Amino acid sequence: KIIILDFGSQYTQLIARRVRELDVYCEIHPYNHLPEFDADVKGVILSGSPCSVRDEDAPDIDLSLLNGKFPLLGVCYGAQYIAQHSGGNVLPSTIREYGRAKLQFIKEENALLRGLSLGTQVWMSHGDTIASLPAEFEVIAGTDTVKVAAFHVPGTKTYGIQFHPEVTHSLEGKKLLENFLVDICGCARDWTPFAFIESTIEDLQKTLGSDKVVLAISGGVDSSVAALLLHKAIGPQLHCIFVDNGLLRKNEFGDVLDSYKHMGLNIRGIDAKERFYSALSGISDPELKRKAIGRVFIEVFDDAAHEIKDVRWLAQGTIYPDVIESVSVKGPSATIKSHHNVGGLPDFMKLKVVEPLKSLFKDEVREVGRSLGLDPSILERHPFPGPGLAIRILGEVSPEKVRILQEADAIYINILKETGWYHKVWQAGTIFLPVQAVGVMGDERTYEHVVALRAVESMDGMTADWSHLPYELLARVSNEIINNVKGINRVVYDISSKPPATIEWE
Ligand code: XMP
Repeated sequence: KIIILDFGSQYTQLIARRVRELDVYCEIHPYNHLPEFDADVKGVILSGSPCSVRDEDAPDIDLSLLNGKFPLLGVCYGAQYIAQHSGGNVLPSTIREYGRAKLQFIKEENALLRGLSLGTQVWMSHGDTIASLPAEFEVIAGTDTVKVAAFHVPGTKTYGIQFHPEVTHSLEGKKLLENFLVDICGCARDWTPFAFIESTIEDLQKTLGSDKVVLAISGGVDSSVAALLLHKAIGPQLHCIFVDNGLLRKNEFGDVLDSYKHMGLNIRGIDAKERFYSALSGISDPELKRKAIGRVFIEVFDDAAHEIKDVRWLAQGTIYPDVIESVSVKGPSATIKSHHNVGGLPDFMKLKVVEPLKSLFKDEVREVGRSLGLDPSILERHPFPGPGLAIRILGEVSPEKVRILQEADAIYINILKETGWYHKVWQAGTIFLPVQAVGVMGDERTYEHVVALRAVESMDGMTADWSHLPYELLARVSNEIINNVKGINRVVYDISSKPPATIEWE
């Protein structure tokens, strides 16, 4: 495996994803919490950082632990760090070094750069520059303005690069990473969905033996893939529970339940709509709604789990980005919304936890799901928030508002699917606004509700742009909603990006 030491760069997870795309397993660890460097470690990558190596409190590591012991690749801050701590000099750059650049000099016979073409485009993003290298270092690539775009310490496997090979704007960045991983580190490219499935099933069988396991299914990708893997490993010892909280999309409960039953899963659907509605009645604050939903979910789930005799384990669909210890070099980031499903396990459920997906990125979860034969309609599903339509009904939730929103949302989503736009946007949904507007229908004045349509493009939900849906599509959705959904006489489209807006309205 490859160890990536994180100095807090926004690109660290991207490095890890590129390494994994090359079928090499890697792990991200914070620079100040080093893992064990055992025999499995084939190489180390030092990430970038928002800090400068010249800062007094710059992130620091003991390079002697790594130098000469493992192949080492410093990226941006990582490269500057190696240079600075080996006797070189890093200074603030006099010109802006951000964006596309071309490698005008490449030492082609160097193992790291073999196969890259002269003039190849790379992505720069740095405020400091390596002004001079220690005498024994060799420059192996440069641009017009960045003399030291890459260096090598001859006779060792230590390299540094000023640009970001993990960003797609570095057109041959993947080739460079492949050179490092395969030729320099000697990694076997054996991290494939198939290999993951085989070894995980074996591990699960060993760990779980004949124990019973309970898993809450949400209808989303992660819990579904976790369920299928566990099902392959332990068959009927897995008990899945799917709760209808009355806040799902139209027909979702029945459809999802059917498709899981089809896959042979041992699954129980629980209609708890009334419990959720009564817990939500009178509450209009978004955070209080989330808390109420989280609380009732745990109660319902706990009741159901108690009905399974001798259950020992709780399975969860946790994925790698949820468990990566984040490095906070610029102070802790504020909690903007409490995502209730990220919380821990309540004490009263004295079960051991099994998380078969906790080493996978989202795209890998999808690959594994595909290899396991998961229904494409579940695999390609948009993200949907745990509190469901409750946070898309602004203010107090009522069963009637849920029904109206479900109808409008089903029209919108079906049209997106029909026109092929569903797969082009990252997430879409309909929001029920707490206002009424005047309209006219025939000769009658109406005074009814307004819904907003939302569709965004995003990589990971952290930032998002509103999708430029065609006017014809919006016109059709608006027409069909107003003509078919009683209680709505106006449809608007949300043209806000994140930040400063968020994807959901609450
Ligand atoms: P925001 O609104 O914060 O949403 O831009 C980012 C992503 O998170 C989802 N989201 C939630 N998911 N529980 C969840 O499981 C929540 O309380 C919650 N709030 C927002 C949102 O749908 C989007 O994908």
